[in-house]
Amino acid sequence: MVTNRTFTMLKPDSVEQGYTGAILEKINAAGFRIVAMKKTQMTVADAEEFYAVHNERPFFGELVEFMTRGPIVAAILEKENAVEDFRVLIGATNPADAAEGTIRKLYATSMGENAIHGSDSDENAAIEGAFHFSGREMF
Ligand code: RTP
Ligand code: MG
Repeated sequence: MVTNRTFTMLKPDSVEQGYTGAILEKINAAGFRIVAMKKTQMTVADAEEFYAVHNERPFFGELVEFMTRGPIVAAILEKENAVEDFRVLIGATNPADAAEGTIRKLYATSMGENAIHGSDSDENAAIEGAFHFSGREMF
């Protein structure tokens, strides 16, 4: 089944710099419906679990430190072909490689501090959404 849902986090750099409104406006303009959304802050244990797939990578410690240093905005988004279309909207992991007009091109400062997260598969979208939201919050 195609879920048509993806999961995103506006990372601490975006929230710190006051880009939340502008980024949500771009997401909205691209045709995504906000299914669930909240401002929250991840604990170290949360970030280690969320990014567990990267725990052997040299940047893991930096990533956990970054993702826990301030509030994030977490959201579940819905649109036809959501996962793939959202990855296009956010742009490449490294903002230097991100296409013009993408969220990372506009708002990210570096490979590490790259403004926004987007799930990379329908399966991970479901896992990541459930990590941050309970069933009755996803409507
Ligand atoms: P995300 O999961 O946050 O949407 O990012 P992504 O798929 O584009 O990239 P991924 O490979 O999953 O990496 C997760 C996050 O780790 C940080 N990172 N830093 N310093 C580095 O070399 C490096 N490489 C990755 C980034 O914050 C990246 O988004
Ligand atoms: Mg990723």
